Amino acid sequence: MKKFYNEFLKIYGKSDKNISLYFCPGRVNLIGEHIDYNGGKVLPAALSIGIYGFIREREDNLIKVISMNIPNSIKIDIKSDLFFNKEDGWGNYIKGIIKYLKEDNFNIKGFDILLYSTLPDSSGLSSSAALEVLMGFMFLDMSDYKNIDKKYLSMLGKKVENKFLGINSGIMDQFSVAFGKKGNAILLNTDKLDYTYIPTNFGDYRLMILNTNKKRGLGESKYNERRKECEEALNIIQEHKKIEHLCQADIEDLEYLKDEKVLFKRAKHVIKENKRVYKSIEALNNNNINFFGEILNKSHESLKNDYEVTGKYLDCIVSIAQSHESCIGSRMTGAGFGGCAIALIDKKNINEFKNFVNRNYFDEMGLKCEIYEIKIEDGVKKLC
Ligand code: GLA
Repeated sequence: MKKFYNEFLKIYGKSDKNISLYFCPGRVNLIGEHIDYNGGKVLPAALSIGIYGFIREREDNLIKVISMNIPNSIKIDIKSDLFFNKEDGWGNYIKGIIKYLKEDNFNIKGFDILLYSTLPDSSGLSSSAALEVLMGFMFLDMSDYKNIDKKYLSMLGKKVENKFLGINSGIMDQFSVAFGKKGNAILLNTDKLDYTYIPTNFGDYRLMILNTNKKRGLGESKYNERRKECEEALNIIQEHKKIEHLCQADIEDLEYLKDEKVLFKRAKHVIKENKRVYKSIEALNNNNINFFGEILNKSHESLKNDYEVTGKYLDCIVSIAQSHESCIGSRMTGAGFGGCAIALIDKKNINEFKNFVNRNYFDEMGLKCEIYEIKIEDGVKKLC
């Protein structure tokens, strides 16, 4: 980190103000995919990889941000009106956070910021949620607002995605990077925003990330399309039954969608995936890791065939992983359409598994993948 500290001084020069360091992790979702915008329960966990933010107060109203990973920098005048501008790229997330903090009457100071990310870009591990939550947390903490409300922070990040960027995502990503807890997954009820921690002890198995290195293309438009399909399915079921969210529907209610082939499949995934979350909790509570692994496999199948958000790269890596004898379960994680999968692997055979997947994935897709063990850590925090 010393290197980045020196880089900060090189870019922004010396000052009598202190440089502080903050961190916000990425996330992985264990189970409960594409149901956080349908009132379902999800089981994400914060990672040890994420985004570091070096920050120092300025004397004026400017916020300057430079990233060590991605070219392009951003300079924002806090007093000006802020609008989305495609050319600002990732800077739009920061503009959105500032805009809505101002609307909520927070008085934000001017800052120099240097970002450094250990998250692979566009890999479905929530680098955008990490950026939003990191920014919100740093701005408030550095502007002397203490006891930051993490629920507010999560909703702020979601508002930026939904209103500033036009992506109709749910609350899972922001909530998990804000509320993460070392060694625990978060069982989040997206309907009421209440949550409990579930210890992640997989016994003889280790949870691995398999990065397809296929960046999430077309993801945003398809994501919004799925969300719209879920709303349409809900509207039809609501003509027959009083429910507020698709996750409150039962399998029998699919009958009302029998003439709408696509909506039928989408709703089937949502209703069954929500049930899989309950079953997973039971399996984890009973230390039945094998059963949890089977549920992961079923989830992938459903995301592939009914929800249709996997794509050939994720399907390829998951099926290679599942075919290895030391793997008891694997599925895509996050939005899909590229990005990462997870797999539960017998701890004795991790190297053998890695070699097997690396080799076969490269042979089939002509791309190198990355495989590493997941470490579950705390959510956003100040490091020093
Ligand atoms: C993206 C969204 C989340 C969630 C997942 C799918 O990561 O940001 O809100 O919908 O996809 O589970």
